Amino acid sequence: MTEEALMLSLHRDATVTEHALRRYYSEADEDIAPLLQSEQYSLFAGGKRIRPALTLEFCRLFGGEEEAALPFACAVEMIHTYSLIHDDLPCMDDDDLRRGKPTNHKVYGEAVALLAGDALLTGAFEAAASNTAAGAEISAMAVAYLASCAGRSGMIGGQIMDIEGERRSLTLDELLKLHSLKTGALMNAACVLGALAAGLHLGDPRMEQVSAYAENIGLAFQIVDDILDCTGDEATLGKRVGVDAAHQKNTFLSFYSVEEAQFYAERLTRTAVNAIRGYAGSEMLCALAEWLAKRKL
Ligand code: IPE
Ligand code: IPE
Ligand code: MG
Ligand code: MG
Ligand code: MG
Repeated sequence: MTEEALMLSLHRDATVTEHALRRYYSEADEDIAPLLQSEQYSLFAGGKRIRPALTLEFCRLFGGEEEAALPFACAVEMIHTYSLIHDDLPCMDDDDLRRGKPTNHKVYGEAVALLAGDALLTGAFEAAASNTAAGAEISAMAVAYLASCAGRSGMIGGQIMDIEGERRSLTLDELLKLHSLKTGALMNAACVLGALAAGLHLGDPRMEQVSAYAENIGLAFQIVDDILDCTGDEATLGKRVGVDAAHQKNTFLSFYSVEEAQFYAERLTRTAVNAIRGYAGSEMLCALAEWLAKRKL
């Protein structure tokens, strides 16, 4: 697949996701207006929409209907957006730029930003649990899986290792675990929920390939994020660079040169692609994995 075709496909997935996300904000309640504004400020600030694209594409790969995947795609993007709002807070990474705009707390204040994150997190589970197109059984499985990927044995586990790591040097194994948890776990949920929406059960042997793809692109994604924090361009990325070094974060560049880290990410990407390339219709997912390893944004 050409890069142009990939971009078109990503754009189409982002458009349907955003349309679906807007429906969760169609009712205005004046009493909670600041919260709604703060949530929507971050949710519709742009962003690459990689995770919802993964959900939609894995559903398509296994012959499912878009309608069944969309609430899961929205749920994953809501959790991702909440994680960014909280990640940027002064008590966490203390960032002032995200998705090319001032961070949520810079605009709405810390209390509202904290609550917007809370509302996005809980809203995500409401959206996933109310997936009537997928049905009650699949929704229940998806909610439980998403919770385990987002929580202490997933993304939040990674975030605590990241924050604790500011005070000591981690081993490479610890860093691999940290990255797999803080970024890989939600990517895995995005892919697995797409496959669930298509009717696969968690015990289906094909899920092993889904997770192999997801875990490898997830780790590669965070390695590239570490590289871009060092070599990237602020305007292109829409977030500050050099913040990892400023916070004495453990990153891949604590162990490897930029070239070695890039090579590592590309090796993981090849493993990811090999896991799914045998499936007819996997071209977009293969091209996406390769683009993510080379991305500049
Ligand atoms: C940023 O994720 C946070 C990490 C997990 C590294 P993305 O790079 O996907 O952020 P957006 O959604 O495009 O803003
Ligand atoms: C964030 O990792 C991962 C999350 C769970 C939000 P980073 O702290 O490296 O993400 P950026 O660089 O701020 O986007
Ligand atoms: Mg962080
Ligand atoms: Mg951060
Ligand atoms: Mg980063």
